[in-house]
Amino acid sequence: MITLTVELGARSYPIVIGSGLLGSSGLLDPYVVGRDVLIVTNELVAPLYLDPLQQLLGDCRVNTVTLPDGESTKTLETVNQVFDALVAHGYGRDCILLTLGGGVVGDIGGFAAASYQRGVDFIQVPTTLLAQVDSAVGGKTGVNHPGGKNLIGAFHQPRCVLSDTDSLKTLADRELSAGLAEVVKYGLIADAELISWLESEADAVLQRDPDHLHHVVRRCCEIKAAIVAADEREQGQRALLNLGHTFGHAIERCAGYGEWLHGEAVAAGIMMATTFSERLGRIEAADTKRVRDLLAKLRLPVDPPQVDPREFLAAMSLDKKVVAGEIRLVLLDALGSASVTADYPSHELVDLLSAQFIR
Ligand code: NAD
Ligand code: GLY
Repeated sequence: MITLTVELGARSYPIVIGSGLLGSSGLLDPYVVGRDVLIVTNELVAPLYLDPLQQLLGDCRVNTVTLPDGESTKTLETVNQVFDALVAHGYGRDCILLTLGGGVVGDIGGFAAASYQRGVDFIQVPTTLLAQVDSAVGGKTGVNHPGGKNLIGAFHQPRCVLSDTDSLKTLADRELSAGLAEVVKYGLIADAELISWLESEADAVLQRDPDHLHHVVRRCCEIKAAIVAADEREQGQRALLNLGHTFGHAIERCAGYGEWLHGEAVAAGIMMATTFSERLGRIEAADTKRVRDLLAKLRLPVDPPQVDPREFLAAMSLDKKVVAGEIRLVLLDALGSASVTADYPSHELVDLLSAQFIR
């Protein structure tokens, strides 16, 4: 077991990573003893991990909201179900929420915690690779709007993140790969060594060797903790964590939420951002090939779905990084280094989309 810290002054918190954490009694005592606890989970995760989590909570008053599964449930209506439970059980400001599940449950439960009585404590207990390496850390919470992905939300940091890497054993293969898209992202923006390591260790990672999964979660959390500590509210370098996401969110929207997994859309989006970086002369063709080969090796899509380029551009324009009508993109300067920029000829983006979508 290792503990990293997200350094945010009085709001600093630990990320605990290890095998068997859900069986380690006493781990949550500092946060939950004497408090009302609401576990937010879903119908797929509850039968797997709700019992062990409840065992960790001793004599606390514990209630549970079990949501339906899936990205399509990431709505204000679902958040309202969490509010209904909090109100029905008479929970006050001193209650604490525990989100048990993947990024969808974490984003919904976190947003409920950010808003209930203007903000209550919460703990993330992520059970997907994507959530352990990314979404459970950093305090972004929220839901989708019919007009765009994650358009409604709040920054609200958890009190603690508890990542039991054993929970990754039950994850579907496709979900494991989706999480690996975010891992590739961390390598591309900040750690060339992680890219080389993934190239040589892909098979062991896909076979879920425990040491390899531990390494992946640890390294990504180290990178994310440093970035969030430096730029909690995404005024600068935190935007690098969106590599591939402007393209990826447009893929999710154009394909229909839930058709593509978020991580799959990010993978194809990373490929588009990489191809665009090469097109602008920022990286070499050999770099693009390495990224394509790695994503394919990790069983991720490398091409976007075929949609109208104009529809795609319109979807990209809804991105939260758009400033004064300019689509700011995260582009690579090398494998392991990236920048956020709107400094590219707009016709180049139109040409890229035409080339990607008309074959
Ligand atoms: P998800 O939450 O839908 O989980 C994927 C699937 O795995 C679901 O069916 C889930 O029920 C199931 N599952 C969860 N844990 C399991 C386990 N241990 N064993 C078996 N099945 C399990 O998807 P995700 O990929 O975890 O997260 C994607 C979401 O995260 C998207 O909505 C995305 O926008 C969001 N996200 C948020 C941030 C952030 O910073 N807040 C960052 C990245 C992504
Ligand atoms: N996943 C992007 C961020 O947390 O900023």
